[in-house]
Amino acid sequence: MKPTALITGASGGIGYEFAHLFAKAGYNLIIVARSEDKLIQLQEELDGHPVTVIPQDLSEPGAAEVLYNKVKELDLTVEVLVNNAGFGLNGQFDELPLLDQQKMLQVNVNALTELTHYFLQDIKAAPLYDIPKGVLNVASTAAFQPGPKMAVYYASKAYVLSFSEALVEELRGTGITISTLCPGATDTNFFKTAQAEHTKLVNSTMSPKQVAKAGFLGFLKGKRVVIPGAANQSMAYASKLFPRSVSAKLAHYVDR
Ligand SMILES: NC(=O)c1ccc[n+]([C@@H]2O[C@H](COP(=O)([O-])OP(=O)(O)OC[C@H]3O[C@@H](n4cnc5c(N)ncnc54)[C@H](OP(=O)(O)O)[C@@H]3O)[C@@H](O)[C@H]2O)c1
Repeated sequence: MKPTALITGASGGIGYEFAHLFAKAGYNLIIVARSEDKLIQLQEELDGHPVTVIPQDLSEPGAAEVLYNKVKELDLTVEVLVNNAGFGLNGQFDELPLLDQQKMLQVNVNALTELTHYFLQDIKAAPLYDIPKGVLNVASTAAFQPGPKMAVYYASKAYVLSFSEALVEELRGTGITISTLCPGATDTNFFKTAQAEHTKLVNSTMSPKQVAKAGFLGFLKGKRVVIPGAANQSMAYASKLFPRSVSAKLAHYVDR
């Protein structure tokens, strides 16, 4: 029996690259996003590899439970959960529509937390394979400082990092890997969705292939936190040295 990886946000960007990497490493796949057409296209690209497509809008309250139940109905077991789906919104907090920001929290925070809660029971019960089992959460370098003009997004990613690092300690010695990938700016649809194409963030991006590979290899090695790219690593390190008020000013500068 081969282990199964469930990847959210697999219809494009970093999640699409994760799907290719996990398939190549021998994991069966369950791929999730709203765009069913793109998921089916990915399934066809992975010709012959066992891939289950589950279209699901994770911004709906209760979506994680619905997704978990769909997986159970298909009689599938998940050994690796990749919580990758997420999005950002650029703008002044009080001027961005509250509903959009609530949806962002629903995807970036609630769905990620709830999916981890549901699937962790199965991951715990799953046998140990020669390839790891566990959870790979996608945060961001945004997790390391406050982010004016993307206040809720940065805060949501700080949550993902803090939550995941706590689980590392809770699950130490269980054979379950919990890794957090913290990408910096990456060349995906993220900036278009976030309406942040005008910001300085887009001036220096990594490719989604590079970023997913760093996260995937980090997960295989059991790394707690993976920050792809030397510049992003330096930025994350620097954020520990500066007062948070200074980090917030710097983040405000690049978000313009
Ligand atoms: N790109 C960057 O600069 C960057 C930097 C740091 C962290 N990240 C993080 O990396 C992760 C992947 O983003 P990306 O850069 O690859 O952006 P992307 O190309 O926009 O991909 C986002 C993925 O999330 C899915 N998604 C969005 N809303 C969803 C919803 N309501 N329900 C289900 N799926 C949803 C999208 O699929 P559908 O639209 O088909 O639903 C898509 O597959 C996110 O968590 C993001 O915060 C990105």
